[in-house]
Amino acid sequence: MDNFTFYAPTYFDFGRGAELHTAELIQKFGGSRVLLHYGGGSIKKSGLYDRIVAVLDGAGIPFVELGGVKPNPRSGLVRQGIELCKREKIDFILAVGGGSTIDSSKAIAAGSLYDGDFMDFYRGKAVVEKALPIGTVLTIAAAGSEGSPNTVITDEENQVKKGMKSDYLRPRFSVLNPELTCTLPPYQTAAGATDIMAHICERYFSNTEESEITDRLCEAVLKTIICEAPRVIEDPGNYEARANIMWAGMLAHNNVCGVGREQDWASHHIEHELSALYDVTHGAGLAVVMPKWMRYVLDKNPDKLVLFAARVWDIPMDEERPRETALKGIEAFEAFLKSIGMPSTLGEVGVGREDIEKMTDKLLGKKKTEGKYVELEREDVIRIYESCL
Ligand code: NZQ
Ligand code: ZN
Repeated sequence: MDNFTFYAPTYFDFGRGAELHTAELIQKFGGSRVLLHYGGGSIKKSGLYDRIVAVLDGAGIPFVELGGVKPNPRSGLVRQGIELCKREKIDFILAVGGGSTIDSSKAIAAGSLYDGDFMDFYRGKAVVEKALPIGTVLTIAAAGSEGSPNTVITDEENQVKKGMKSDYLRPRFSVLNPELTCTLPPYQTAAGATDIMAHICERYFSNTEESEITDRLCEAVLKTIICEAPRVIEDPGNYEARANIMWAGMLAHNNVCGVGREQDWASHHIEHELSALYDVTHGAGLAVVMPKWMRYVLDKNPDKLVLFAARVWDIPMDEERPRETALKGIEAFEAFLKSIGMPSTLGEVGVGREDIEKMTDKLLGKKKTEGKYVELEREDVIRIYESCL
């Protein structure tokens, strides 16, 4: 196990009715003038918006609002949010929604206390040194942004999706009420479950040896999703299954399952180019890319794939033919993703062959390779995209 530091100070309020504590939580963490940030309307349809407004009004907390965050959140709305926060002297941002809304809030939080263009943080030209505090009320278990220091924004001018991270952007609190996820359409539920699994896989597929505790934590989260995702697809109102998935989503990405080891992240970066150019749902893009990445790296570095097959998918270990064991694990993963309604080809998410080189160039930028479990060169990335067609 490698040396590491671990800092995850978010306060979680988990369970039925937890959103009713939002005003108290804002006050507990020093908020007095709030930006209420949300997405395209699901919170109005579900009645959550009215409940949040009622608790803010009830506590006498003044707020301004900015809705309209799109999945794969855009730089343009972030700029509007920054302007609003500066003009209205906002001192706390409340994100009500999914990863897109939370990521947009993080960008606004950093940009509001910065004189330059907020995209500097995403382009690696500046480092976040301060940010407005944020709190979240999560409505979809997926991105893990409710407990992570990460944010991903689509730069509209350049059609690239860029991520950055800073401990200043970790939410002060996150309200996790599994009931709020019961209104999710099956496709979004499945895409979220896939993203959670991918967050674990990016950490599980590591060349760092002897971090058994982290491997076992990863396996537990994966097995939980394998057990619970079909239950919520079958019965969207299953609170207990929703609860397990919601907590798994947080654990998958606050890095408790990743410390002490090298991590990969090639599949995510390959997927982000799909989202940036074609507005693909992040989890659905990962459902296509992740198993294809596994097949591609299998012969270059099989060991962890064998373990994945045996421990996660319960494939009997064939000591004579470990490659076959690993392959059966990948096939089991593919069958699982299909069973929850996820796509397995780029064609199914509306992506063709024509932009593969462009996406590869954007992905690599000035880098020579992508990923760590197997270091992928330009040709490798192109071949993975092609295998996804
Ligand atoms: O916008 P509304 O109307 O709210 O609808 C959303 C949206 O259309 C809908 N939705 C959310 N909760 C709902 C609901 N519909 C009905 N009932 C509910 N309870 O679901 C759609 C997707 O929402 P979104 O916020 O985009 O989902 P997700 O949480 O998957 O976030 C995806 C974004 O997170 C980024 C992705 O790249 C993508 O941009 N990621 C962020 C990470 C991070 N910050 O740590 C890590 C991830 O790897 C990921 O890259
Ligand atoms: Zn993800």
